[in-house]
Amino acid sequence: MNRIIHVEPGSVGKDMPTRTFRLRHDLKDHPLFSLERLARLAASLPADQVEFNGPVEPHQDPTLTPSNGMSAEETVRRIEEAKSWMVIKSPEVDPEYKELLDACLDQVAEQTGQVMGGAHRRSAFIFVTSPGNVTPLHMDPEYNFLLQIRGTKRMSLWDHKDRNIASAEALELFPGKHRNLPYREEFEASATHQHLEPGDAIFVPLFDPHWVKNGDAVSVSFSITWHTDESERQVKLSYINAALRRIGFPQGEADANPVWDGIKVAAYDTLRPIYDTVKRFVGDRQKAVKLFFGKTENAI
Ligand SMILES: [Fe+2]
Repeated sequence: MNRIIHVEPGSVGKDMPTRTFRLRHDLKDHPLFSLERLARLAASLPADQVEFNGPVEPHQDPTLTPSNGMSAEETVRRIEEAKSWMVIKSPEVDPEYKELLDACLDQVAEQTGQVMGGAHRRSAFIFVTSPGNVTPLHMDPEYNFLLQIRGTKRMSLWDHKDRNIASAEALELFPGKHRNLPYREEFEASATHQHLEPGDAIFVPLFDPHWVKNGDAVSVSFSITWHTDESERQVKLSYINAALRRIGFPQGEADANPVWDGIKVAAYDTLRPIYDTVKRFVGDRQKAVKLFFGKTENAI
């Protein structure tokens, strides 16, 4: 495949992937991102791979997220006036999208000496959003390039180590926990603001909080994600720290005690297959969480 992703020489240092940077792509007229093709994709996928809702705010209470009253396919076809937000999860189950995801991450890896775009657990998301729509403040537990395909977006982005923006507890992962983070207007003073046009892309580091506002046109974005051994270690620590907090033992920052962190990661590797077996056995994530941790009031 021709080169479709362009990394500026010098933008990726040896300390990556830890800092945001911008890059360019050639996908803005790609047929896989026409609304017609995306409507067919949304209609072809199981309901749990297509999430969508009506208008929300950056501080949206997840329990009050409004529905838009339409089907997934109709939402895409009417996105201009639908006042809606949609994410299509794992479009790579369709071989055409899989080929594109792999080409993008392979090309990033090639251009960065394999520092970025690694081969673990590649996955994509496609965001289809109405003019002016908002993606509330959240963080993502994977490395992520956001490629702007159509329309414009403004992203506000913070370092996940900035405890003025998100506490260690807020960033910890827990089965069933909603992704939205608490947001206040005054956060904006310390944000990195990125304006994205079609053809622009941005790297969003692991766990870095961000929220996104569309410009005044329909927006389509392609998010391509992957893991490394280090990101998987960080994610495991985050789950274990959340579990320990819930039974009354809140933990210090990740990496403050490498030996103890290693024990926690080993505990995760032991417990996770047991948890997955219990979940399969009881057939319900909420019941499995309750069996493991004894309380479920924060799981949504
Ligand atoms: Fe995100």
